[in-house]
Order: sequence, then C-alpha cells, then structure tokens
Amino acid sequence: SKGNHRHYMLKEIYEQPIVVAQTLRSYLQRMEERVTLPIPEFDLSSIKRVTIVACGTSFYAGMVAKYWFEQFARVPVDLDVASEFRYRAPVMEPGGLALFISQSGETADTLAALRHARSEAQTIAVVVNVPTSSMAREADLLLPTHAGPEIGVASTKAFTCQLAVLAALAANLARAKGKLKPGEERDIVRHLAEAPAALNGALAYDEAIQAMAGVVAGARDVLYLGRGTDYPLALEGALKLKEISYIHAEGYAAGEMKHGPIALIDENVPVIVIAPSGPLFDKTVSNMQEVQARGGKVVLISDYDGIQAAGENCVATITMPKVHPLIAPLVYAVPVQLLAYHVAVAKGTDVDQPRNLAKSVTVE
Ligand code: F6R
Repeated sequence: SKGNHRHYMLKEIYEQPIVVAQTLRSYLQRMEERVTLPIPEFDLSSIKRVTIVACGTSFYAGMVAKYWFEQFARVPVDLDVASEFRYRAPVMEPGGLALFISQSGETADTLAALRHARSEAQTIAVVVNVPTSSMAREADLLLPTHAGPEIGVASTKAFTCQLAVLAALAANLARAKGKLKPGEERDIVRHLAEAPAALNGALAYDEAIQAMAGVVAGARDVLYLGRGTDYPLALEGALKLKEISYIHAEGYAAGEMKHGPIALIDENVPVIVIAPSGPLFDKTVSNMQEVQARGGKVVLISDYDGIQAAGENCVATITMPKVHPLIAPLVYAVPVQLLAYHVAVAKGTDVDQPRNLAKSVTVE
C-alpha cells in the first residue's frame, strides 16, 4: 500500500534510509569494520577486468560503480548499455568479471548480455532486487539489493540500494586485489554506514524542493550537469524528469557543456547543477558560471559550504547535508528524484504509471 503517501513513487523515495540500511547489513560487518559479500569465500583476487552491463537507471548505477572500481580496486572497467553490448563484438578475456545490474532481474537485453558473457567464460555477478528472477538464477555471484518490491515505474529506492551494493563490491574487490591502504576499509565501512542518516537528512528538504519546483515545471527543456560520480547523477536526474513529467531533459558531464550543449542556453532553459563541495567542486562551478554568463537560470544542488561559495547568482538552491564523496551519489539521488516528482505532480501527470513505460522490459 502507499500508506499515507500520495504515490508509490513518493513512498519509495521515503523508504530509502531504511532499505539502504537493510541492504548494507548484508555487506558490512560494522563491529569488525569490514566489507563482506553474501558468499564470503567468493574469491575476487584473480579478477583483472570488470565489464558492467545494464539498462536505464540501473546503467547509471553501473556508471557510478565504474568510478569506484577504478578508484579503489584499480581494475579496468568496461561499461555499456545492454542493447549495445549484445550487438557489438565486445572483447572479453576469459576470467573477467561480468557484472549485470537490474532491479527486476528480467530485462531482456540485460539477460541476453549475461548469457553472452557466460559463453565468453566470464564470472557472472548480478545485482538484482528480485531474488527469484532469471538473472539471480543464472549468477555465479548473486548480490541482492534489499529494497523490497518497487511499484512506481520510475526506479528510485532500487537505484540507491544498487549503489550501496556496488560500493561494497568495489571495496571487496579492492581488498582481494591488495589495493586498500591501511585503514581504508574501516573508513569505507564508516562512510557507508552514514548513508541512511544522510538520506534522512536529504529527505528533510522535500518541502523546499516542492517550493522551487515551479522553476522547472514551466520549462520545455532542462539540462542537468555533474562531474565525476555526479555525472551519472545528472543523467539519472534528466531521465527521472523526462519519464514522469514529460519535460525534455538531458544530462551532461559538466565539462562537455562547452562542446555543444551550451548553444541551448538561454533564460528559458533551467540548468540543474549537481555539485557537492569536494575536489571537483571548483571545476563544476566554473562550468556553471559559463552557463550564468549566457543568461542561463541555474539551480545549484550542493551542501551548505557549496551554496555559500557559489549559490549567489542562482535562481534556486537545494541544500544537502555535507557528506563524504563516497556516499554523495546516494544522497544526491534524493533531490533529483524529489524534483522530478514535484514537477510531475505540478503538471498533473500519472507519476506511478507514466505513459508508454512498463515496469519490466522483457522484450528487446
Ligand atoms: C527508470 C527505469 C528504467 C529501468 C530500466 C532497467 O526509472 O525504471 O530505466 O531502470 O528499464 O530495468 P531493470 O533495472 O529492471 O533491469
């Protein structure tokens, strides 16, 4: 049931602190300050390459994971959407890890890609939310998310739970490959353990986001910009908005703006900039200022320090709790979900059952 929420999507957005905590319980040993896998003896030490394949929102979770696998485990990562992967001629050395991410575990293209990777002698890992699904059954390493059933067609809580599992997998791989510095595993566990409270902190801005949704609701086109792991978040924000509000939206890597999309900027195109304070903040802010110099209306999503430093000329700001960069993708998922939700409600669209979309895409 929707409980006292108006839509399943809103209920599922609000469940995130609890279901992320629930998911993390299977992957963190809080007392020992260690990350674990559901199959603790599963040996990742010989993995030399990771191939990540998924569709839609699950693909964006995979994109975040690519940054983490490279950063922590120092393994090369190949990443593709399933519909492309299965029809190109991907080169996979035997013994690689092929990782499939899917809420439903039934998406036709992702399942076909999994079977192709199996025929190429890859170890098959799957991150799925439905433990009885086809992908779960065909996995060597089953990595469940514990988001519970997701009813809203637009994926929300499944995404943040996928990120939680993928962060833990990256840390497990890094340890298996001897790439963690002393104390690093402990720090990763501590940061991940802060995610549920940080998600609650992000949800506290729901009303503020609702109040500024009008900036976006009247627009015909919207751009989302982010850098590093906020780039996939920009893509996810744009996907959520177009799915449920039918407003045309695109996500770009902040640094790509000047290579084309900047031509779109005028006072009618809101630009949502996702920029937590941190090592990439100044770079993204300089891209943001290029937008402002051309009359663009910027909505800055950052933390208090970021808003203090760069919020001045923005049409609206959304303040998030200050969090470690590792959990920022989970936390910043909340404002992009809520923004899409409130814009859709303002426009009167069918939030839980958007036109032309199905929850599970079992045909290619
Ligand atoms: C977006 C959305 C879709 C799914 C995609 C993959 O809100 O829900 O983009 O993420 O169809 O579905 P799964 O994860 O079930 O493979």
